[in-house]
Amino acid sequence: MSDQQRTVFTIFGSTGDLTYRKLLPAFYNLSHRNRLAEDFVLLCVGRKNYTTEQYLEIALPWLKKGVRFNFTQEAYDAFKKHVRYVVMDMSDPGQYVILKKDYETIQASLHLYYLAVAPEYFEKVARSLRDAGILDDATGHRVIVEKPFGKDLQSAREINRTMTEIFGEANVYRIDHYLGKEMIQNIMTLRFANGMFESVWDKDHIDFVQISATETVGVENRGPYYDQAGALQDMVQNHLFQILSLIAMEAPKSLDAKDIREKQIQVLRNIEGLSKEEITQSLVLGQYVASRDHKWIAYTDEEKVAKDSLTETFAALHVTLKDPNWTGVPFYIRSGKRLRQRATYVVIGFKRQHNDLFAAQNPSQDLLLIKIQPEEGIYFRFNAKKPGYGSEISRVSMDFCQSCNFDNRINTPEAYERLLDEAMSGDDTLFTSWQQVETTWQFAQVISDARNEGLIKLHPYPAGTDGPQAAHDLLMKDHRRWIDYELSEYSETLQHYPND
Ligand SMILES: NC(=O)c1ccc[n+]([C@@H]2O[C@H](COP(=O)([O-])OP(=O)(O)OC[C@H]3O[C@@H](n4cnc5c(N)ncnc54)[C@H](OP(=O)(O)O)[C@@H]3O)[C@@H](O)[C@H]2O)c1
Repeated sequence: MSDQQRTVFTIFGSTGDLTYRKLLPAFYNLSHRNRLAEDFVLLCVGRKNYTTEQYLEIALPWLKKGVRFNFTQEAYDAFKKHVRYVVMDMSDPGQYVILKKDYETIQASLHLYYLAVAPEYFEKVARSLRDAGILDDATGHRVIVEKPFGKDLQSAREINRTMTEIFGEANVYRIDHYLGKEMIQNIMTLRFANGMFESVWDKDHIDFVQISATETVGVENRGPYYDQAGALQDMVQNHLFQILSLIAMEAPKSLDAKDIREKQIQVLRNIEGLSKEEITQSLVLGQYVASRDHKWIAYTDEEKVAKDSLTETFAALHVTLKDPNWTGVPFYIRSGKRLRQRATYVVIGFKRQHNDLFAAQNPSQDLLLIKIQPEEGIYFRFNAKKPGYGSEISRVSMDFCQSCNFDNRINTPEAYERLLDEAMSGDDTLFTSWQQVETTWQFAQVISDARNEGLIKLHPYPAGTDGPQAAHDLLMKDHRRWIDYELSEYSETLQHYPND
């Protein structure tokens, strides 16, 4: 680490899926890259009665599976030296004296607390730390919280009030791990470092934007969490709205977190189409049922999911922006589980040329595809003359694959690795502000109210397909279709366009 102060990083919820699958491998990677000082301590708090050795033994298979570099004994030994497991029930305020004693022996000058626990514990942990006198000293204290930030608008506001009162807004780091992804950060570079793209980035040139995050997996072992959250809360209101705001924001004054966030918030506040009156026309929710070949079971038959659950496993939205730069441009957003294909990507469809020179050859629409996962890269499809006589047109492409090159993979930190590193360095550029979170909860609240009033239907779709028919109808109304990630399977957009 560049700063010389002794750092202790405490994880609450250290025996959970998030810690085993993401946080510990991220710390191994940081250790491997010499990003942890010799005296750095990773304090893993859990109520299970393990010794540090037993805890590390349980974590070992997760590390072997999850680390970015080749797993070696030497690197593991170096990582292991930092880890201490502390038996303590974080939900019991009386037990924080245990933690206080530990901190007194460690004598750190910077504390980070990662709350890898359900949001109902956030306030309790924060208050218990304060009441135990742990936050009294002159050392720095930062807290890192995970989505979901609450379970609705009101609980999110209450949690935020407590966290900012106890730690101060500047010390609350709200993780949206999508912001740690390389291609998400690349969206700003693509737009603002290239005159070619930025000069056509408006309603006069862009016909539509599609943002998709489709998964082939079901709820896996996360039934209790997912059944409360659903696709909107799990994916759309945080990760996909982040992408939307990066695609549609005006150029910020600088690359400072404050300036970038200001422009992102402006986009979120300009979203139209999700009011209670419009929602039946702009939102489709779905839930997967068993696949036709019986390979996949229905969502309601998944482990730890209520048999009569009405939670959506698929959401598709059509929104517009109240912004003169984007008047009339539709933004289509969708996300779901147990779909045909795993992919996260953005498609920008450009308007057709307004001249008849090649009308007979029916040129295709130019498309810019920003691939976020599984591959990272940028793909541009355009028209060129077919070689030979005549003026026939063929579709050609330029393809930049950021993640194909092995050196790129080795040099690219994983999202959590990058975010933990930045939180320890005190750089909050890649974290979300309360205003961003609050604005998206406001949409979630309108949708939840509309559902409670029975205004929104839940459409079933067979597992392993492209989602409910209603999601396709949402675009058909505009004479468009969802565009596929697999280049060979691009769905043709329908014959005519409103701007033709
Ligand atoms: N998993 C992910 O990939 C992911 C991604 C983004 C956000 N999140 C969010 O992060 C949080 C944690 O997720 P997770 O998947 O890791 O959950 P999890 O596997 O259920 O783990 C929860 C952790 O909290 C501890 N815990 C629960 N109740 C407790 C109590 N009353 N007292 C003390 N400890 C308690 C558990 O300890 P025991 O082992 O002793 O029960 C465990 O360490 C959730 O809010 C989730 O929504 C998770």
